[in-house]
Amino acid sequence: MFSSFPQQFWTTLCDWWREQSRQKGAAGATSLLVGNLWSFVRESTPERRRQRYGDMEYDWEHRVNTTSGTVGWRARLLGMFHSPYQATDPALFREMMASLPIEFDKFTFVDLGSGKGRTLLLASEYPFQRIVGVELIAELHRAAEENIRAYHSAAQRCSQIEAVCTDACEFVLPDTPLVLYLFNPLPEAGLQRVVRNLERSLEQSPRPVWIVYHNPAMDSILGASRALVKAGGTELYSVFRSEPGFKVSKS
Ligand SMILES: C[S@@+](CC[C@H](N)C(=O)[O-])C[C@H]1O[C@@H](n2cnc3c(N)ncnc32)[C@H](O)[C@@H]1O
Repeated sequence: MFSSFPQQFWTTLCDWWREQSRQKGAAGATSLLVGNLWSFVRESTPERRRQRYGDMEYDWEHRVNTTSGTVGWRARLLGMFHSPYQATDPALFREMMASLPIEFDKFTFVDLGSGKGRTLLLASEYPFQRIVGVELIAELHRAAEENIRAYHSAAQRCSQIEAVCTDACEFVLPDTPLVLYLFNPLPEAGLQRVVRNLERSLEQSPRPVWIVYHNPAMDSILGASRALVKAGGTELYSVFRSEPGFKVSKS
């Protein structure tokens, strides 16, 4: 069952504090904490809330609710200590998919940090074998489930869509060729864990994996993995592919 909000918030805050004070010391973590709380207050003003409704067009067209404008204060507060929910722009998503030289019907699409599920719906315009969204925050996960149920489109080519509520760092990747989608879900340590999980998974089951990394602020973490090769991108996103024959144990 999902834990209550106070429990979830306390656990999130303790984990966040441990990680930040390890990296920046207690003074650095305190100043970041004050900054995060201040951003939360600033983002709660009516003006900023109105701005977040700016990306409603997709929702209006498809009768779903994927905008960040309607995210409740609890999920927004948790987001300050994970990563705030923001939905991918549909035109950019299609551009990113068009850059992949793959046969979609051989791949599973996985969005690590899927929020309210907009990318899951967008991915269903392609003939993926299966689509999986992994989201940590229960409120966003439930919204994704609702959206999957509500979505209808003549453009839909995959209906095997599943939303999972768990930590992306602990998610066991499907044993099939993958398109892994990342839009700023994780801080540095979390992204490193995801890369290590992927390396182990690739060693156990060598297969093609493509990573689409939207807003690639920590490109160097993916670039440092011997399991991955940069295969394209723009300033807005990077594309990596798995290195055939990769072995974790090789030095
Ligand atoms: C920038 S949003 C991207 C949402 C969605 N992928 C999209 O592109 O429309 C990042 C999401 O990652 C989620 N997230 C943060 N940390 C996570 C974790 N450890 N495991 C799973 N999801 C996480 C956040 O709650 C947020 O919904």
